[in-house]
This record gives sequence, structure tokens and C-alpha cells, in this order.
Amino acid sequence: MKTVLVTGANGLLGQKLIRLLAADPALRTVATARQPLYQADTGATFYPLDITNANEIHQVFSETQPDVVINTAAATQVDWCEQHPDACYEINTNAVALLLQACRQTGTAFVQLSTDFIFNGNHGPLDETAQPDPVNIYGQSKLQAEQAVMKSGLNWCIIRTVLVYGVARPLGRSNIVLWVKQSLEQKKPIQVVTDQKRTPTLAEDLARGCYLAIKHQATGIYHISGEELMSPYDIALQTARFFSLDETLISPADSTTFRQPARRPLITGFIINKAKTNLGYTPHTFTQGLALIKQQLNL
Ligand SMILES: NC(=O)c1ccc[n+]([C@@H]2O[C@H](COP(=O)([O-])OP(=O)(O)OC[C@H]3O[C@@H](n4cnc5c(N)ncnc54)[C@H](OP(=O)(O)O)[C@@H]3O)[C@@H](O)[C@H]2O)c1
Repeated sequence: MKTVLVTGANGLLGQKLIRLLAADPALRTVATARQPLYQADTGATFYPLDITNANEIHQVFSETQPDVVINTAAATQVDWCEQHPDACYEINTNAVALLLQACRQTGTAFVQLSTDFIFNGNHGPLDETAQPDPVNIYGQSKLQAEQAVMKSGLNWCIIRTVLVYGVARPLGRSNIVLWVKQSLEQKKPIQVVTDQKRTPTLAEDLARGCYLAIKHQATGIYHISGEELMSPYDIALQTARFFSLDETLISPADSTTFRQPARRPLITGFIINKAKTNLGYTPHTFTQGLALIKQQLNL
């Protein structure tokens, strides 16, 4: 039986992924996180692991002997990364080097989660051959991690994704769809960007893409996201309409309206043909994703 070790198991992706992996009787799933698991009922075995701690990595590796490590853990708040570059690099880059070192000692395959924010946003959607050129610290930290993975000498796979949305525990944790829904429910007016473009990704689809990559022992780079190129403003309008909320509370704004510490790439979004062809990856439409969220929130 193959042992798969997941880092960041309490994250939006991590929560979905451990449930999917643990349901596969051919796999033994080791779920690791800094804090006890929010979901104790998946069947995964839990080990505490802060990926910046080399001793903890060594201990968990020797106790669990993973065949594959999938690193979903990351500092994902883009503005926080811009304001705390050292801490961001510690988690997003240096910790990846520690995990790679441990994998080299045990011959473990390595799957790294990465991001559309490694690109400069000048054009999109992008396939796996597009040239990275990050415009903020978060993107730089994730690109440097990718470069270390590619040079690792291991069996490696890099899965890049885009603007992930979904429902995870605790329910207060937010993403674009839940933020729009909650703001409009509270009758709060919101300004949403019209001139950025993304292919928003349902967390369940991303988890499925990761699962398929592991099952196919995929190597190289894969773009895994939704298929519809939309602005955050489009996303907000569709969310409002789907949940029958007041869309007049949503005002369009261009990127220059917002004063944020980190620059955002304007146009990204992914072409996902490689994942569809090689892995059989088939994402939900955005409307289907909203329907799943509605069902998960028991609405
Ligand atoms: N979310 C997006 O829109 C998006 C877009 C593109 C790419 N990605 C990439 O996709 C991956 C998964 O993202 P996500 O959406 O699941 O993010 P998330 O919900 O923010 O989860 C990240 C997880 O990483 C954990 N973590 C942070 N530092 C850690 C450390 N030192 N040791 C162990 N765990 C640590 C966090 O732990 P705590 O729960 O303890 O804070 C959190 O549970 C990331 O690699 C991210 O860069 C995400």
C-alpha cells in the first residue's frame, strides 16, 4: 500500500484532499498540520508538522516512511507576504528545501502546489510552457520553490492553480465566493475588480486534480483550475444572482482603485488541456461549483 503524506491538511485544499485520499483503500493517508485536524473523521492518520521545522520533518518521515509527499502548506495571504517577506520565504521557499532534502534521503516522490501568481499578468490564459515573471513577494517565493523542486533530482510534479473557492472548516474562513455572499447577506456594499481575469477553481476540483496526479504518478508541471476566464466582478455578479442576493450592492472598480501592499497580476487564468488529456481531469463549471457550495451550506 502506498503512503501519501499531505502537508497543510487544515487548509482549504488540504481538507478536501485528505478526505479524497483517505477514501481510497489502496492508499494510506498521513495528514500533517501545525494544529490538530479540523476534520477528525476522514480516516487519515494525523501527525503534527510545521514544515519550517527540520527536526519535525525528520521525525514524521522516519515514523511514516511516505512514498509520496504533497506539499499544500503555504503562506497564502499575498499582502501578508509582501509585508513579512522573511517569514513568507521561510514557509514558501526554505521549508520546501527542507522537505526536498528529506525526500532525497528516503527516495520519496514530491508534489508541490504552486500558483498563477508566478506570472506577470500581461496575458492569459496560460499553459505550462508560459514564462514565469512574478510581480510580488508571494509569487517570487513560490517560483523559487518551483525551481528548487525542478532541480531536486526526485520524481517531482508541480501543480499550479488559480483563485480557489469552496467551503472549509472553520466556516468563517473566507474566499471570494463566501466573501461576496456574506457581504451581500449583511447588506454591505462591495467594490470588485473588473480588470483582473482568473479561471476560478473549486477546491474539490483542485483536490481531485492532485489525487489524479498522485494516482497517475504524474511528473512535470500541470495547470489545474476551472475553465471559465472571469473577472472577480463577474464572479461576484454570478454569485449574487445564484444566491438571489442584491447585486446592486456590487460596484465595479479597476485595479487602480485599491491600495494594497502587494501588486496583483492582471490577467492570468489557465489552459488546462494537459491535465484533461493526461490525467482525465474534468472541472465543474462555475455555476456547478456554486451549487455544490449551496448544498454544503445546507441552503
Ligand atoms: N487559495 C488560492 O486561491 C490559491 C491560488 C493559487 C495557488 N494556491 C496554492 O495552493 C496551495 C493550497 O492553498 P490553500 O488554498 O489550501 O491555502 P490555505 O487555505 O491558506 O491553506 C494553507 C495551509 O498551510 C498551512 N501552513 C502555513 N504555514 C505552515 C507551516 N509552517 N507548517 C505547516 N503548515 C503550514 C496553514 O496552516 P494553518 O491552518 O495552521 O494556518 C494552512 O492550513 C498553496 O500552496 C497555495 O500557494 C492557492
